[in-house]
Amino acid sequence: TPAVGLVEFRNVTFGYPGAERPVLDNVSFTAEPGKTTAIVGSTGAGKTSLINLIPRLYDPQQGEVLIDGVPVSSLTRAQVSSVVGLVSQKPYLFSGTIASNLRFGRASATDDDLWEALRVAQGEDFVRNKAKGLDDPISQGGTNVSGGQRQRLCIARALVAKPRVYLFDDSFSALDVSTDARLREALGEVTGDATVIIVAQRVSSITDADQILVVDDGVIVGRGTHEELVERNETYRQIVES
Ligand code: CTP
Ligand code: MG
Repeated sequence: TPAVGLVEFRNVTFGYPGAERPVLDNVSFTAEPGKTTAIVGSTGAGKTSLINLIPRLYDPQQGEVLIDGVPVSSLTRAQVSSVVGLVSQKPYLFSGTIASNLRFGRASATDDDLWEALRVAQGEDFVRNKAKGLDDPISQGGTNVSGGQRQRLCIARALVAKPRVYLFDDSFSALDVSTDARLREALGEVTGDATVIIVAQRVSSITDADQILVVDDGVIVGRGTHEELVERNETYRQIVES
């Protein structure tokens, strides 16, 4: 059966190999298809560690991460990757062209698919202004494009793959506020019934999320909508005010 993309954490505890204490402690939540789940928390709180468990970059010591009720530990990384699209906090481009970087997740994508993904990722103008457009060269690590352009190309790459679960780890931080807003609006139109999980430094990026999880020192200390959390969660209020 085709994947729906329901993501579930059940009592997940995780520590990096060799570390004394876990960075995530008994984390449980559900991220539903068609909805946006945002994860906020101060630096070092464990946000990246948390979402990296979904595509199995690491496996938890206790508890389980499930997609559509199936433990990801029973799937290969390739199987998980066909369902989950991760835009990592340090987006990576490899040596090739803009097109080859965008097609990485789906070799069969047409040029029209790539332009559509670039439109949503707010990268269309910048690629159109390149001498060779989609065939413009990218150097190893993407050192010949700016941080914000690199982020947009990696967002576009995730969109080209059309996963059931989108994971954006602080992916909008290098964008100015108005580009960020345009991108998220366009994103909302194309992600449709997929599951979207967004880690955000800038709370203004996620005030309209269906569910916000507040992570503090590896523990979920609050969950709710923006309005609910402003009302009753001190950690969230501090993040909003910072
Ligand atoms: N950590 C670690 N080994 C790693 C990565 C992270 O020991 N390979 C530790 C960090 O030092 C930190 C904790 O795990 O104490 C959580 O890190 P991370 O999940 O990366 O925190 P974030 O909430 O993502 O922080 P930021 O907002 O700065 O991205
Ligand atoms: Mg992080």
